[in-house]
Amino acid sequence: VIHPVILSGGSGTRLWPLSRAAYPKQLLPLLSERTMLQETALRSMTDVGFAAPIVICNDEHRFLIDDQLRQVGVVPQQLMLEPVARNTGPAVAAAALWLIARDPDALMLVQPSDHVIGSVARFHEAIARGVGAAQSGKLVTFGIKPDRPDTGYGYIQTGQALEDAEGVFLADRFVEKPDRATAERFVDSGVFSWNSGIFLIGARHFLEDLGRLNPEMLAACERAVHKGTEDLGFFRLDAAALSEAPSLSIDRAVMERTDRAAVVPVDMAWNDLGSWRALQALGCQDGDGNVVQGDVILDRVRNSYIRSDSKLVAVIDVEDVVVVSTDDAVLVARADSAAEVSGIVERLRREN
Ligand code: GDD
Ligand code: MG
Repeated sequence: VIHPVILSGGSGTRLWPLSRAAYPKQLLPLLSERTMLQETALRSMTDVGFAAPIVICNDEHRFLIDDQLRQVGVVPQQLMLEPVARNTGPAVAAAALWLIARDPDALMLVQPSDHVIGSVARFHEAIARGVGAAQSGKLVTFGIKPDRPDTGYGYIQTGQALEDAEGVFLADRFVEKPDRATAERFVDSGVFSWNSGIFLIGARHFLEDLGRLNPEMLAACERAVHKGTEDLGFFRLDAAALSEAPSLSIDRAVMERTDRAAVVPVDMAWNDLGSWRALQALGCQDGDGNVVQGDVILDRVRNSYIRSDSKLVAVIDVEDVVVVSTDDAVLVARADSAAEVSGIVERLRREN
């Protein structure tokens, strides 16, 4: 069986003011009635061969996440709590350590909780293709064909095809969030794909590599799991031990440096709903290209995202804008600049 490991610790600052520390983007219904966390959990339920998921999240979100999962009929194998956020490296390591104590041959399907996948059938096919390679020790990534030199993604260089696994290739290089010029080169070369952020990896193989590449992180996570405590069915990692783990993503801690990465290219209508622009592009548009939610009146508005959670919002004669109104904040921005709200969030953090 494959154990889904769902990462749900991020905050998604580019979707402010909707996405907040108390309600990060994966816990919001953005494109459908379900939240992105619920969609993620259901994606690895609808097929045989998956165990119940392990969800790793911030301590503060435990009840919210537990509720959201149960609402869609998902009973997690374990909800694992981080008293401090240390990025995805320690989160994946903790899950691997927890699992390996129960199943030494455990395969983990590590998944971010903030993505849209249009074709679940193709997603499942790709996983099935990667299983053999993962069992034999490869750290399997899923590659998305890039359509722009986005610097917010990891890039994977496709190498030789694996002999005994159709549709699986060696990953010659893995470069996390390159600068603009490098990203342009990668996209032009035609041999790089984006890292989808989904990994199919043997818990044991991952921990071996981590021990070699970042022994300090492994040791801290071992202590965090060893001293972890049960609380009302949750498993809380030890705060002091986890704080000692270097705060690094799995991409930087392991994937950029391992010599046994592989890639399964997959075309599954994948999208990282990272910005208001992406929501406008992927949402359900009216005849003028607007995506509208809540109590909103429009007059001569085109290609815009307008959302109100409470007040009535009226917008007249504009194009390509984002207007988001919540109980306590309003954002108005040119759609192509709306991702820059993360700068505002930074400023608010510093000033408060
Ligand atoms: N449990 C836990 N703890 N989860 C976390 C933490 C943490 O400290 N930090 C982030 N996460 C979760 C986020 O909620 C998200 O679901 C996932 O882990 C990935 O984190 P992001 O912060 O969104 O990463 P990213 O988007 O910058 O980069 C990753 O994803 C890209 C694809 O969207 C990388 O893997 C890139 O290489 C990749 O291209
Ligand atoms: Mg992300």
